Amino acid sequence: MPLRAELGIDLGTVNVLVYVRGKGIVLQEPSVVAQAIKTGEVLAVGEEARALLGRSPDTIQVRRPLRDGVIAEFNVTRQMLKHFIDAAVGSGFLARFIKPVVMITVPFGVTQVERQAVRDAALDAGAWKAYLIPEPFAGAIGAGLPIHTPGGHMVIDLGGGTSEAAVLSTYGVVAAHAVRVGGIRMDEAIISYVRRKYSLVIGQPSAEEAKIRIGAAMLAEDDPVYRMEVQGRDQATGLPRSVEIATEDIVEALEEPLSSIVGMVKSVLEQTPPELASDIIDRGMTLIGGGALLRNIDRLLTQETGVPVYVADAPMACVAVGAGKALSRRRTLMRTLPEM
Ligand SMILES: Nc1ncnc2c1ncn2[C@@H]1O[C@H](COP(=O)(O)OP(=O)(O)OP(=O)(O)O)[C@@H](O)[C@H]1O
Ligand SMILES: [Mg+2]
Repeated sequence: MPLRAELGIDLGTVNVLVYVRGKGIVLQEPSVVAQAIKTGEVLAVGEEARALLGRSPDTIQVRRPLRDGVIAEFNVTRQMLKHFIDAAVGSGFLARFIKPVVMITVPFGVTQVERQAVRDAALDAGAWKAYLIPEPFAGAIGAGLPIHTPGGHMVIDLGGGTSEAAVLSTYGVVAAHAVRVGGIRMDEAIISYVRRKYSLVIGQPSAEEAKIRIGAAMLAEDDPVYRMEVQGRDQATGLPRSVEIATEDIVEALEEPLSSIVGMVKSVLEQTPPELASDIIDRGMTLIGGGALLRNIDRLLTQETGVPVYVADAPMACVAVGAGKALSRRRTLMRTLPEM
């Protein structure tokens, strides 16, 4: 084991995950920061800050410093990263003197300026060296796809802010496409559906809970229908009220965001040269990211594209795991990936 800690960091719009070489995933926290409005002082980060979302007094501002996978608030992101890096390396004797080397993920196709911002934030946050890796590569490595071999490997990352699909071959990108539609957009779609159908205004946490507990991408005949109560505010009276919603409601609410995701996947398949496309038909496409956990999302994508779909093991962790593993392969990767 090297003395210097080696971290793989998935800097996501909704969640940050940190993988430590030799230990595995040591941290998964919401990418949320609570700040005092008057002084700018950071009061809470991660889970603790998320608990304040929608409930904080007006002296405290709670926000997500990343938008669509890229840094929207540099200073806040830097402080959040520092908090997570410190938590991941711990306060042991060595950790105090030897800074970690980190591999951080960035969405494929971000600008040079956006990449530099991530690198600077990591260095300011206490990294000794900061390498960057495009998310589809990290995700594919984390999902165990042999992307160092020729032939087409397709990975679909359904995140909170964005969804992207890429076909990779021998450490290169053959085709890729991203849409700014992810879990957050799905929550918004549920909020507007419930408002339209039941005249009830619900918050994002309730919408997300419904999506996770009873949601599905499509209804299959053999599937049970789940129901749950959601609390909100009556649109007319302004008073608290609850309604019971069912899986069908979520399926209907998610139609529009899901059709953007299906369109994105189809466009990547269309861009893929025939030889590689036939590999993908044989091997299937691999789903990662939080959205991969939506019930029947694999079935929907198979139905719409005719290509088999597999959900990776622990799909939310793939990007961070892959970033960590990429650190030990960085010499090979650096030859092919210009971003690093
Ligand atoms: N069981 C589930 N069903 C549907 N969606 C889920 C489930 N579990 C988590 N999610 C959603 O996954 C999203 C978070 O996924 P993930 O952690 O991959 O995003 P991220 O990496 O932070 O975002 P991005 O990659 O866009 O920057 C959230 O919107 C969350 O609601
Ligand atoms: Mg992500």
